[in-house]
Amino acid sequence: MFFTELACGLCGKLHSKRTLQTLCQGCGRPLLAQYDLLAVSAALKKEKILSREASLWRYREVLPLSLDLEPITLGEGWTPLLPAHRFGKSIGLPHVWIKDESQNPTGSFKARGMAIAVSMAKQFGLKALAAPSAGNAAGALSAYAARAGIQAHVFMPKDTPKANIVECVAMGGQVTLVDGSITDCGKEVTKRKENEGWFDISTLKEPYRLEGKKTLGYELAEQLHWNLPDVILYPTGGGTGLIGMWKAFGEMERMGWISSKRPRMVSVQAAGCCPIVKAFEANQRFAQEYPNPSTNASGLRVPKAIGDFLILDAIRASRGMAVSISEEEITRAIDEVSAHEGLFFCPEGAACCAALKKLQISGRISSEETVVIFNTAGGVKYMEAFEGFALKNLKRE
Ligand SMILES: Cc1ncc(COP(=O)(O)O)c(C=O)c1O
Ligand SMILES: [Zn+2]
Repeated sequence: MFFTELACGLCGKLHSKRTLQTLCQGCGRPLLAQYDLLAVSAALKKEKILSREASLWRYREVLPLSLDLEPITLGEGWTPLLPAHRFGKSIGLPHVWIKDESQNPTGSFKARGMAIAVSMAKQFGLKALAAPSAGNAAGALSAYAARAGIQAHVFMPKDTPKANIVECVAMGGQVTLVDGSITDCGKEVTKRKENEGWFDISTLKEPYRLEGKKTLGYELAEQLHWNLPDVILYPTGGGTGLIGMWKAFGEMERMGWISSKRPRMVSVQAAGCCPIVKAFEANQRFAQEYPNPSTNASGLRVPKAIGDFLILDAIRASRGMAVSISEEEITRAIDEVSAHEGLFFCPEGAACCAALKKLQISGRISSEETVVIFNTAGGVKYMEAFEGFALKNLKRE
């Protein structure tokens, strides 16, 4: 077992891995899993990973689940990294790659975090889990909890895409729709969890969803032959994927798997909910809660992220940026990229495409650079949002 302990991402306080942990007992911020990376690099040569199973469990040594336990799995991770030749060329960037996360179980990258977190919950013998969600995390939690024989209680804003709600119900999740944002859903979980005996599996309020999301970083490195791209654009809500990738890059460098070169990390948000962009522009380490959040990219409707400082630290350390995109730009990008690449983009992924175009036009990304964007879920989950979007290509006579 290479997983050693947990350290607070803000104050560094150490916490034992042997008990169930939530947030730092000192400052209330997220905990990050630590590994004996020297021992991993001695035991595992990166070349050995090539022949392993096509899932995120190929990185088992840097995941927290005890090596003698069976994971709760639906085959998550190891999604394709596809060259975006036609879209890239259309915006003057010939080296664009799309990490297509819609090919995960339950159709979104939320499967990564939930596979690890629910596997850990099973290891700790938990019987009931609860989480607020913009939609996709609720679907993933319902699926993995069903597989583990654990109850799932999910809280979503009442205007969450119907597909998310229906899939939760189908997989036995207990759904509550809340008249408010994901922050209000989180408050509901906090209020009820103690009485109901639920464990709160909210983004970054327990340490293991992050470990699942960090495998995005391991996969990118492996798929690019242990080189990292020059720029990564990530659609940011709670920011777990961005924080996770940044953590993965540090771990891989310490194991000697990659060099010290890092991509510029670009956080992409919707103009109707962009607390990270505001904090970045104001040179602040912590973000203010964003008032009246509104966007059809439901995964980006996160007015306050508990890991805000981790997102902002990574952006700044990488000399990256934070960019906001209007609803109109998102709509246009869905049409353009989907028709160019044969992938039905979700609004959150399309926001990355729009941001990429903007950065190219303003000269902040050059044509020699290798860029990775994420299609974090499948467009099919967003039907009612598309009615509002009035996609040009969908118009019928
Ligand atoms: C499709 C999609 N993209 C992006 C995000 C944002 O992810 P994160 O919370 O890791 O920033 C979400 C979150 O719900 C999502 O569902
Ligand atoms: Zn702390």
